[in-house]
Amino acid sequence: MPVSKDIKQIVRTYNKANLINILNRIQDKEGFLSRENIKYISGKIDMPAAKIYEMASFYSFFAFEKKGKHAIYVCNSPSCFMNDSVNIMEEIKKITGLSPGEFNKDFSFQITQCIGCCSEAPAMLIDNVAYTKLTKKKIREILAEIKKKSSEVKWQESSLEVEDKSKMKILKETKFISLEKAKSMSPKEVIAKVKEAGLKGRGGAGFPTDIKWDFVTKAGDEGILICNFDEGEPGTFKDKFILINNAKTLIEGIAIASYAINCRHAYIYLRKEYDYLKGRLLKAIYSSKKHLDGLEIEIIEGAGAYICGDETSIMNSIEGLSGRPRKKPPYPAQYGLWQKPTAINNVETLINAALLFEDNKWSNDLRLFCVSGDVKKGGVFEEKTGILFEELIQKAVAKEKPKAIFFGAAGGCIPYESKTRFDYESIKEKEAGLGSCTIIVVGESRSIVEVCRNITAFFVHESCGKCTPCRDGNHRILQLLDKIIGREGTKKDLLLLEELAEFVELTSFCPLGQSSCNHIKGALKYFRSEFEELCK
Ligand code: SF4
Ligand code: FES
Repeated sequence: MPVSKDIKQIVRTYNKANLINILNRIQDKEGFLSRENIKYISGKIDMPAAKIYEMASFYSFFAFEKKGKHAIYVCNSPSCFMNDSVNIMEEIKKITGLSPGEFNKDFSFQITQCIGCCSEAPAMLIDNVAYTKLTKKKIREILAEIKKKSSEVKWQESSLEVEDKSKMKILKETKFISLEKAKSMSPKEVIAKVKEAGLKGRGGAGFPTDIKWDFVTKAGDEGILICNFDEGEPGTFKDKFILINNAKTLIEGIAIASYAINCRHAYIYLRKEYDYLKGRLLKAIYSSKKHLDGLEIEIIEGAGAYICGDETSIMNSIEGLSGRPRKKPPYPAQYGLWQKPTAINNVETLINAALLFEDNKWSNDLRLFCVSGDVKKGGVFEEKTGILFEELIQKAVAKEKPKAIFFGAAGGCIPYESKTRFDYESIKEKEAGLGSCTIIVVGESRSIVEVCRNITAFFVHESCGKCTPCRDGNHRILQLLDKIIGREGTKKDLLLLEELAEFVELTSFCPLGQSSCNHIKGALKYFRSEFEELCK
């Protein structure tokens, strides 16, 4: 197959530094990456074709053969799994005749991990557009429409409206007054203001934002800012909520951070699962241009890899490599993207960097909680940390008496206790982590072992394979869980499960592996009897 004019144009438009964007555009255009196209890119950007193939094969959204006209990806991460994604997959199989992993001339059908529509589960992507609150009837209608090429059944943003948006502080558009205020100060004063406000990273680690920025300014004259929009933690969709509702203030936050670290070219690393929202982001950047004083903001799209939420993986991905994590030190603030001092902040952190300049009562305790799972009215709730379990879950309306709370996939799990508070200390005391305030509610009739299996399958899929404990340990844990669920397990297997979980946590190379067994540890601590009941 000859290389088309369009493909040549795509390669001309981007450069070597943009390999992942080149591959994304070609995949969008042709549905896959052909050998001819890879060879062509290789010649143009002076990179061996084998290296390009190695990089592309790391990401789950790149394909190397034409697989039907329309690509269906059904989410099977916890919140969708708990809302009957299995039935949705069966219906797709019935209609298309395809099992996951198969394709015909019309469709390819894949299972994917969380696509950030957890409160509207079950959900799927078709040709990069999200379809939510799926039912068997809806699936039949969507597929029939798509086949007729007249699909009007699109993702509906209104379904994310879970409370009165006018009261939400995160949605206040500051209209670049904050940026003006910041620019009336020196970069040092901006960092001091962020320190005084107490802004901490909202991506889960909670690292003080001022310290991160300060390190960058001390490491060199010019810094780089990366806005981490790779919101891949199952059960998390707050960054998407911000993009839909207040993208301009996010851009303002990016401009303030860039000013503080003397960055002239900032990056937004947007997960491919949010491709259908990229237009909004571009519009927000474009319409903010006159306030940006020449600051370039470039969007780099991911291609389906949870590990790229890690700060060193994201840099590798932007540099056109597979998104495997780097060894630390050196830390990104010293030696980051393109070897320059780099600050990597997540979306919620950056929008708050703008909000705190305008609101004297701004509080680091006000957070966005994403609630999903066994609830009727999940969504994004803006609440202070410290809210009681019963208060928050009441807003999301539990489908049945809650039994457990899982803090995404990586934060572990604890029993539901109405008077426990969602604050960092209380959750830590119970050996779990509030992280980015992702709350997956599990009802009393649901099997904790099955939820654990689903989460372990997620980590098996998302392990980058670089280190043995995470790659093989999680695989072995999945085998053990299958054995237990199949009622073939013994009490000895439970001990092995416990030992393996400990081992994977202690010996894995990066935070993904180190946190990949928190759910197993929590479940064995609090819900051991459910495992024991299944054992011989
Ligand atoms: S722990 Fe190891 S295998 Fe797992 S994601 Fe990190 S580097 Fe990759
Ligand atoms: S969209 Fe399915 S779990 Fe998040």
